[in-house]
Amino acid sequence: MATFPEFIAQNEERDGVRFSWNVWPSSRLEATRMVVPVASLFTPLKERTDLPPIQYEPVLCSRATCRAVLNPLCQVDYRAKLWACNFCYQRNQFPPTYAGISEVNQPAELLPQFSTIEYVVQRGPQMPLVFLYVVDTCMEDEDLQALKESLQMSLSLLPPTALVGLITFGRMVQVHELGCEGISKSYVFRGTKDLNAKQLQEMLGLTKPTATQAGRGPQTPKAPLSNRFLQPVQKIDMNLTDLLGELQRDPWPVTQGKRPLRSLGSAMSIAVGLLECTFPNTGARIMTFIGGPATQGPGMVVGDELKTPIRSWHDIEKDNAKFMKKATKHYEALASRASTNGHIIDIYACALDQTGLLEMKCCSNHTGGYMVMADSFNTSLFKQTFQRVFTKEVTGSFKMAFAGTLEIKVQPLHTMSVSEIGTGGTCQWKICGLDPNTTLAVYFEVVNQHNAPIPQGGRGAVQYVTQYQHSSGQKRIRVTTTARNWADAGTQIQSIAASFDQEASAILMARLAVYRAETEEGPDVLRWLDRQLIRLCQKFGDYHKDDPNSFRFSETFSLYPQFMFHLRRSPFLQVFNNSPDESSYYRHQFMRQDLTQSLIMIQPILYAYSFNGPPEPVLLDSSSILPDRILLMDTFFQILIYHGETVSQWRKAGYQEMPEYENFRHLLQAPVDDAQEILHSRFPMPRYIDTEHGGSQARFLLSKVNPSQTHNNMYAWGQESGAPILTDDVSLQVFMDHLKKLAVSSAA
Ligand SMILES: *[C@@H]1O[C@H](CO)[C@@H](O)[C@H](O)[C@H]1NC(C)=O
Ligand SMILES: *[C@@H]1O[C@H](CO)[C@@H](O)[C@H](O)[C@H]1NC(C)=O
Ligand SMILES: *[C@@H]1O[C@H](CO)[C@@H](O)[C@H](O)[C@H]1NC(C)=O
Ligand SMILES: *[C@@H]1O[C@H](CO)[C@@H](O)[C@H](O)[C@H]1NC(C)=O
Ligand SMILES: [Zn+2]
Repeated sequence: MATFPEFIAQNEERDGVRFSWNVWPSSRLEATRMVVPVASLFTPLKERTDLPPIQYEPVLCSRATCRAVLNPLCQVDYRAKLWACNFCYQRNQFPPTYAGISEVNQPAELLPQFSTIEYVVQRGPQMPLVFLYVVDTCMEDEDLQALKESLQMSLSLLPPTALVGLITFGRMVQVHELGCEGISKSYVFRGTKDLNAKQLQEMLGLTKPTATQAGRGPQTPKAPLSNRFLQPVQKIDMNLTDLLGELQRDPWPVTQGKRPLRSLGSAMSIAVGLLECTFPNTGARIMTFIGGPATQGPGMVVGDELKTPIRSWHDIEKDNAKFMKKATKHYEALASRASTNGHIIDIYACALDQTGLLEMKCCSNHTGGYMVMADSFNTSLFKQTFQRVFTKEVTGSFKMAFAGTLEIKVQPLHTMSVSEIGTGGTCQWKICGLDPNTTLAVYFEVVNQHNAPIPQGGRGAVQYVTQYQHSSGQKRIRVTTTARNWADAGTQIQSIAASFDQEASAILMARLAVYRAETEEGPDVLRWLDRQLIRLCQKFGDYHKDDPNSFRFSETFSLYPQFMFHLRRSPFLQVFNNSPDESSYYRHQFMRQDLTQSLIMIQPILYAYSFNGPPEPVLLDSSSILPDRILLMDTFFQILIYHGETVSQWRKAGYQEMPEYENFRHLLQAPVDDAQEILHSRFPMPRYIDTEHGGSQARFLLSKVNPSQTHNNMYAWGQESGAPILTDDVSLQVFMDHLKKLAVSSAA
């Protein structure tokens, strides 16, 4: 029998699923006592090179309220050609095409290795992909030039049949008509007014694709769907390239002391309306490129007077962020319309100051869109990141998927429900945009009553059904069915404890904390997190009452408190030193990345390079900062190289240039090479920082390491033993001591 770590790794590899607990407490009461809820991190489109899609459609349970998909956990009667649904116990007849099945001739979906399987839906038309560019023109020439080049490059990466459109905005919003015989014609809208879909439809003379197609008559049934504003790349790429090349900065003069008037909110509204009228329920991406905040019209986040700065956390706390609520409402309404239609909204915000990501974050969040933040469009952070959006699989299709929905089936009658949605056996979410890393957190509620035990040896099953539009145009359904044992927490607490996945649990609890942080005061969230941690220690630690020194946590739990320690200090929960936009950005990334990336975000990775041996991972602790070491820190958002004091002096003296110190040159180069590797693969591309002892950017490192040598005890440490850190936060040691004291206290 595999150990739990092996079991967890296998399940993640095969199904993209990790549960907080791999043996489930069998009643509602017991589940609440486990502190960490039964929950899963699920990566719907986890990359599987060994999973060719099958060319038929899934067989569904016939019970109308169930509709679960036939899977390897179903009982099958091969003689009678019946299968029993493992969610609702309904007995179902196999469809006629399954007449030939037998024990030795099983369809793929019944084989255990296909607990995750992907089907290609044959019905329905293949829909084109739609890309609508929404481009701010209120920016410096350097930025606009760089952005234009990136957009032109992206046209060459789109499939020839994809439809593209262009909306530009400054004081006015322009919807560009494409392919009008060399004349660039556009419809101009005032940016101060919001138009609903119907008004837009009339003003632009739009029709729904079905109507267009019908109007064309039967002689051109294969003509791609399009309209004057959305045309196939293959037809207009030259003209659109020219059009982009000719884009100029917004011509309206900006007087001194003013911000440009930027109609971002109405431009986005027009983009959402245009797709809503023309391509509802078709995969589409609205890609928004912004160089500053919306300063007029719906969705404005700041006025045009430069002397009035955009809201800060301080303003928000003092309820002094004049435009925030109204703007948020505007963008939430857009997000919800886009999501209803399966459309994605990406935001690329490149500016030194804030642009209103706090107000706009729902647009990316509710539609599975990307949010990318950089200082300028002329940075590799933006350019490389944008290029990586168009990464392709070996088959030549994009890795991005469109119009995704996720449906989750559980056994409703006596066992489980999916949180937030209440009872009923199933629930469905629109995800819209997905890529192979998109990872969702699903929280379950055990609903079984304490006095109605689940039979010994019973198993609980969960089925994740992800429907999406593959970038080849195919509609696909990926089905993952997984099960875990139930156990009675009264008699089998050991086996439940042994099944704890501390990494997954840390991320699942962190996501709950971030969710709370969006609506509650910071200190309340930290208190909640601390309380949960103390309860977990009380429940699963070994100790004698009132003796902190006796506290022991088994290996399965041993790293968990440390994750919580770093989470408390992370930018996801601490807003100090970050703008509201930065906090929104960090949280957005954290809420969608996979487990490995999320763990790096909570507890950055630190590697040391020295003459004493090969590079090695070291503790994220101030004692790791030594004069003769180079450190490489990966926080997900930043890749930082830090040269210790001595190394930095040698570097300044230029030893690396001298032939006799070639090994020093190699030492300097090694972390740079490793950093490049990360910079080349990660999405979004991290910020690269090269710094040294005493350098101003060293603060990024110092703010992440555990301050094991604070000013309270620094005198106890020699010069050699690391850099003392001036900080008010407690060290991990103090935190752990405190935690143990509270956990064992009989007063608690
Ligand atoms: C973008 O930045 C690079 C280097 O930082 C510079 O050489 C280039 O001229 C800039 N591009 C524009 C359009 O200004
Ligand atoms: C593209 O531009 C050329 C010249 O400007 C024009 O002749 C041609 O009709 C345009 N193509 C489309 C599809 O509009
Ligand atoms: C995104 O939206 C979901 C619900 O749609 C919510 O649970 C989650 O907390 C949001 N994430 C952020 C970072 O706002
Ligand atoms: C997904 O994660 C892998 C591994 O970190 C990374 O290389 C890749 O760029 C990511 N892709 C996207 C689209 O996030
Ligand atoms: Zn069923």
